[in-house]
Amino acid sequence: MGMDRRAFLSWVGVGAIASSLPLAIAACSSDSPTESVASPSAVPAAARPDGFTEVGSVAALQQAGFIQDKAFVSGPLLVVNDPANPSQLIAVNPTCPHDGCAVDWNRTSTEFICPCHNSRFKTDGSVSQGPASKPLATFIAKTEGDLVLVKGG
Ligand code: FES
Repeated sequence: MGMDRRAFLSWVGVGAIASSLPLAIAACSSDSPTESVASPSAVPAAARPDGFTEVGSVAALQQAGFIQDKAFVSGPLLVVNDPANPSQLIAVNPTCPHDGCAVDWNRTSTEFICPCHNSRFKTDGSVSQGPASKPLATFIAKTEGDLVLVKGG
């Protein structure tokens, strides 16, 4: 008897779940079934055969003003829009060559600024103000659809 009651209850439960399914299916159907549910930033992405790695979405870049990826294949990464040419991206290793602090992107002055000793770097990575004497390492970056891609190496 107990089994019957459980079976009945579970059948009712399934019915309740099933009644909410059409909505869930509708919500999922706009996504391609081949796309992973994991976001690109959740798992360190491997480089593609062409050398580019997905590091985030264009939407995320526009919203935050930058993309940071500490798990990038070639070390820490900071990607911003090129203020001189918004369709282009700038990608640098934000590790300050002076003493290893992480530089920040300053949208107002369009420079990378180190919070430790105030070194400043231009969008091409070159030093505009010391004490750093070496440039930031740069990477090639581009968009492809909604993806932000950076070439490692
Ligand atoms: S570590 Fe960046 S200026 Fe010193």
